[in-house]
Amino acid sequence: MALGSPSAFGMDLEAIRRAYARYAPIYDHTFSWMLARQGRRLAATTAAARARVILELGVGTGLTLPLYPADRRLVGIDISPDMLALAQRRARERKLGQVAGLSLMDAGNLAFCDASFDAVVAAYVMSVVPEPAAVLAEAARVCRPGGDIVLVNHFAGETVARRRIERALEPLADWLGWRPAFGFEELMAGSTLRLVERRPLAPFGLFTLVHLRKPA
Ligand SMILES: C[S@@+](CC[C@H](N)C(=O)[O-])C[C@H]1O[C@@H](n2cnc3c(N)ncnc32)[C@H](O)[C@@H]1O
Repeated sequence: MALGSPSAFGMDLEAIRRAYARYAPIYDHTFSWMLARQGRRLAATTAAARARVILELGVGTGLTLPLYPADRRLVGIDISPDMLALAQRRARERKLGQVAGLSLMDAGNLAFCDASFDAVVAAYVMSVVPEPAAVLAEAARVCRPGGDIVLVNHFAGETVARRRIERALEPLADWLGWRPAFGFEELMAGSTLRLVERRPLAPFGLFTLVHLRKPA
């Protein structure tokens, strides 16, 4: 779509795959520092605190993989074969024994049984997928009752100034490949997950750690 034309985030899975085929070769040298590193570390430690078997949605190039303790069992999925190939290479080259599997899969249609995991993580994924509430519902389905769901994401700001900037950027959502004005309330609408913690991350609170729990 043309830069600047209005959009309601029309990226389908094929468009996302194409976008990440372009990003994959440069991802670790750009997004790895642009997207707060602290967020990945906190997501991994929060998820691992009460979990042995963990699923990571949109695992990307696998930047989070070495951050999980060695005695956990980690399964990662991603829709982009190019990003996933880099995660597989990272796990192989760094001999990451905690990685039990890395598979090509849509986070909105997971091929896992209900309650398969103790925790589910999605770092910088929710504003990239066309239907974030459906992805959250899938995360909740495959998480065991009493288990944790940990997200790191940019959510629309609560200050007037930030909201203005985000609304101005929203027509570029398809071009950017993510939704600047995506709100936390939109994600949680209709969800039965309980909010444990919502913590803005440094610098500037541009990203937020959200810790949710599935009712037991
Ligand atoms: C911004 S990257 C984040 C990658 C990684 N979590 C990180 O922290 O660097 C978003 C990732 O989500 C993946 N993704 C987008 N839509 C997806 C979907 N429907 N199912 C699975 N993965 C998806 C993309 O391919 C990409 O690897």
